[in-house]
Amino acid sequence: MTFDLNTFEGLRTPYYILEEKRLRGNLELIKSVAEKANVEIILAFKAYALWKTFPIFREYIKATTASSLYEARMAYEKFGTKAHTYSPAYTDYEIEDISRCSSFLTFNSLSQYSRYGKKAKEVNPDLNFGLRINPEYSEIGTDLYNPCSPGTRFGITADKMPEVLPDDIKGFHCHCHCESGADVFLRTLGHIEDKFSKWFGQIEWINFGGGHLMTRKDYDVDLLIDTLNRFHDRYPLLKIILEPGSAFGWQTGCLVAQVVDLVEDKGIKTAILNVSFTCHMPDCLEMPYMPVVRGAEIIEDVNMKCSLDDDNVYRLGGNSCLSGDFMGCWRFHNELKIGDNVIFEDMLHYTTVKTNMFNGITHPSIAIMHTNGEFEILRKFTYKDYLNRMD
Ligand SMILES: Cc1ncc(COP(=O)(O)O)c(C=O)c1O
Repeated sequence: MTFDLNTFEGLRTPYYILEEKRLRGNLELIKSVAEKANVEIILAFKAYALWKTFPIFREYIKATTASSLYEARMAYEKFGTKAHTYSPAYTDYEIEDISRCSSFLTFNSLSQYSRYGKKAKEVNPDLNFGLRINPEYSEIGTDLYNPCSPGTRFGITADKMPEVLPDDIKGFHCHCHCESGADVFLRTLGHIEDKFSKWFGQIEWINFGGGHLMTRKDYDVDLLIDTLNRFHDRYPLLKIILEPGSAFGWQTGCLVAQVVDLVEDKGIKTAILNVSFTCHMPDCLEMPYMPVVRGAEIIEDVNMKCSLDDDNVYRLGGNSCLSGDFMGCWRFHNELKIGDNVIFEDMLHYTTVKTNMFNGITHPSIAIMHTNGEFEILRKFTYKDYLNRMD
């Protein structure tokens, strides 16, 4: 099967479509940063977990990072290497399995380390332990994503860190970016060093977490490489790890949906789709942000009605029963008709991991458009998938 990459005309049901060419573009850039900055860059599964595509990733990166037992298992069983694992809270009923599937294990608190360190090492003596640190500085503007807000539950602040680290703690882990630029990393690094460099002589590695959006067009890749190389100059014995998620899946594919009905109320026109914001694009409502729709212009003025007077301006509505399952407005080039494709850009990272089956709505299929133009369906969802979650 092949489709026109711009319109996907001929599709009759919704699909997330990953473009292999774009994915390889991101992977190449990430690999070159890793080489030029002499760091290890690993994939954060929380943002991207389409495991059938892991063989492509294996051509560029060696490892992944997990935040739970299932992600750690997936690292081991599907990616083929043990995970760098960090979870805010390990439990006694999962710590052994997590330890078996991990090469690095980062603890969120000293109490988690005391409770589970010994058990973890018994299961996997090769485990490399780390502690999550919290520099109490983050430029993330959205509270939902800011791990450094007062009252945070993430990591250990410098005032609570013991002067001498436990013998088997070999690294620090620090995550305080979100879709951030290299300039933010440079500034944040200053705070990390101010607060924690006095312990750097006691550790072997430092993981600067995710949120480094190095594949975004305007990202200053050279500044990132320079910042990392200067850090090496200051601390030549520290191995550096970065674990972005979004940067891998950034702009690698879309969600193609179809218009199933057109309704109007009080002068507002809504095109109802065969997908849902709350089920299939949850970050749009959660963050919130207006997704880019191919060939349509976002109307920023929130007071502007999706008016009957303007034929091509529509709210887009989801097919769930949640009243707020709509967004808009967008101005399209043409009047929308039932059956038309509506293409939401950049719907791979996080989105494909966070979808749900609320209302029993048929989940969009997942496909990959290979570099040779072949359209391969990776997954179609069925009634059984819905039942299996509830049996
Ligand atoms: C600990 C940790 N590592 C890595 C990531 C991945 O971040 P991103 O997808 O923004 O690169 C996150 C995201 O929340 C995280 O919490």
